[in-house]
Amino acid sequence: MTIEVVILAAGQGTRMRSKLPKVLHPLAGKPLLGYVLDAAHAVSADAVHVVVGHGSEAVRAAFAEQGVQWVEQREQKGTGHAVAQAIPQVNDDAAVLVLYGDVPLVSADTLKELLANCDDGNLGLLTVELDDPSGYGRIVRGNDERVTAIVEHKDASPSELEVREVNTGIMAVKASHLHRWLPALSADNAQGEYYLTDIVGMAVAEGVHIHVVQPDSHWEVQGVNDRRQLNGLERYYQQQQAQKLMAAGATLADSARIDVRGELEIGQDLFIDVNCVFEGRNRLGSEVRIGPNCLLINSTIGDGVEIKANSVLEDAVVDNDCVIGPFARLRPGTVLAAEAKIGNFVETKKANIGRGSKVNHLTYIGDSEIGDAVNIGAGTITCNYDGVNKFKTEIGDGTFIGSNTSLVAPVRIGARATVGAGSTVTSDVGDGELAVARGKQRNIGNWKRPEKNKHQDD
Ligand code: UD1
Ligand code: CA
Repeated sequence: MTIEVVILAAGQGTRMRSKLPKVLHPLAGKPLLGYVLDAAHAVSADAVHVVVGHGSEAVRAAFAEQGVQWVEQREQKGTGHAVAQAIPQVNDDAAVLVLYGDVPLVSADTLKELLANCDDGNLGLLTVELDDPSGYGRIVRGNDERVTAIVEHKDASPSELEVREVNTGIMAVKASHLHRWLPALSADNAQGEYYLTDIVGMAVAEGVHIHVVQPDSHWEVQGVNDRRQLNGLERYYQQQQAQKLMAAGATLADSARIDVRGELEIGQDLFIDVNCVFEGRNRLGSEVRIGPNCLLINSTIGDGVEIKANSVLEDAVVDNDCVIGPFARLRPGTVLAAEAKIGNFVETKKANIGRGSKVNHLTYIGDSEIGDAVNIGAGTITCNYDGVNKFKTEIGDGTFIGSNTSLVAPVRIGARATVGAGSTVTSDVGDGELAVARGKQRNIGNWKRPEKNKHQDD
């Protein structure tokens, strides 16, 4: 049996009050629709059809080249109408899994269970019990407890409104059935819409059994209609991420104050202080310590590294036992060999910094190759840019750069060289040489300082 997924994503999402189509709003840094597409892949869908309408150009553009079959629903005439737009493209033998573009966290296990209960004689329906079912379609069961129909809130009788079991909208049904049932839907109801939910009554009339599946957690089927619900899902998702990190061996100062927007792979015995944010793909080795308020983007951190408070790392690779920060900024292309130290108010970019080298204070290192055991004094600047082109600075092993030095690239400082503090280095320095490139000090004796006239105003 083939599996085809139909994702409904044509609605406007008015309550988001946003120019951005609802399904493009990010949850943990990824658009809502991205999660639903992942779910479709997780059940090994043979084809994925996404029904788009409002903002369809932006939605298509955001997911171009993902093998999605786009279906335009020009007017939103209801969920039944939406599925009907996709169905001509769906193979008659397929099991059709209907998902919503704004319900991001449904689990693959739940969907597999629905699909396992979808065949000619069965329709898989995902329902959930809610304390407050208002607004949702209610699940109507007969005397034998079998599901007989779904009644939308606006069409429900007072006794039906009492029902707390609701339709999540997610279901698995044979395409051959949909080919017959969808054309038979009518819009003769309180909302004047073609309700997909009406196929449940049709199924029962034909003797097709409604097999109900329920999710492990109601968060799996929570949709996003407004930003409050989006935030609810975000916090739930982040709490799940935090639980996984703790289970894997990280101590978190506060599991409610860490945000993972992407993939975070970790070793054991880490400590992560409050308010750290991880974006993209990050990898942290064992015994890493991260101080408060750090941002890591697409970075790889070795074992035993300490990243102190308020540091920002992006596309950086840090080998074992380095110490970074506080207030360090490692920009893309920074590669630190083991035991290197980057201190406060230091910015690095496209820089290889060798083993045990120290760049401790107030420095900019860009487009640079720095050897092992180099000491870079406070206030050193690699002048890598002449306003048009970027140039490289090379510094050999064991070299000492005095404080407040400008290294005007392209320039090469040899190994075990020394550069005097305050130098502006414009030409290469050989191995073992001392370079002093600054105004010579003059001392003038008996210097008379200007004196204030007594009658002069202060
Ligand atoms: C629907 C269900 C209801 C269920 C609820 C769960 C129907 C008739 N009702 O109600 O039983 O409890 O979901 O949230 O199915 N969409 C389109 N095109 C349309 C209409 C909707 O693509 O013409 C999409 C929306 O973008 C959304 C999804 O379908 O992703 C659900 O639509 P929505 O209007 O939220 O459905 P509800 O009326 O809330
Ligand atoms: Ca809805």
